[in-house]
Amino acid sequence: MEIVNLKERVEFIPILAVWHHNQWSYLNPDGSIEQRVASLETELKSDGIPKTFVAVSGEALLGSASLVPHDMDTRMDLSPWLASVFVAPDARKQGIGSALIRHVVKEAGRLGYRTIYLFTEPDKVGFYARLGWSHLETTVYRGHNECIMVIRAM
Ligand SMILES: CC(C)(COP(=O)(O)OP(=O)(O)OC[C@H]1O[C@@H](n2cnc3c(N)ncnc32)[C@H](O)[C@@H]1OP(=O)(O)O)[C@@H](O)C(=O)NCCC(=O)NCCS
Repeated sequence: MEIVNLKERVEFIPILAVWHHNQWSYLNPDGSIEQRVASLETELKSDGIPKTFVAVSGEALLGSASLVPHDMDTRMDLSPWLASVFVAPDARKQGIGSALIRHVVKEAGRLGYRTIYLFTEPDKVGFYARLGWSHLETTVYRGHNECIMVIRAM
């Protein structure tokens, strides 16, 4: 398994858009797969953030994680965010999600960011806490309970 910038594996954009749409459409019911494809393609044109990384093994896409300037339109005061952490169901529990998260935090530090945020469902707080993230607050976002967490980049 290796983690690379999505720019190096653009062929995975369509499947990534489907995965992300299926996982997070509950927060964005009006969004579409086509919009997700367009937004991933747009980010490839810039050197800054948003930036997406993919975990790959040969020709197989295993997962993704992104560093984005904003992820919650109610908390535009916080930036940047770890977002779109997703591992293919049959590749889970092998450390790939943790590796993607650590990779994004390291990349954020390399870019000069010192504090990174994420939001997640309450049942994932323990998982992120084990990776060094701290719980900042619990909030209702678009009708769902979500926890905002924070980490200092190395
Ligand atoms: C959350 C998610 C990204 C985790 O991905 P993953 O690749 O399974 O993550 P890891 O393998 O690093 O860790 C998952 C668990 O497996 C354990 N694990 C890791 N390697 C393992 C191994 N070799 N054997 C057994 N367990 C292992 C980890 O300790 C961790 O346990 P925990 O949940 O009790 O902390 C994945 O379940 C997913 O994509 N879920 C849907 C999308 C989602 O919820 N994303 C996060 C919301 S922001």
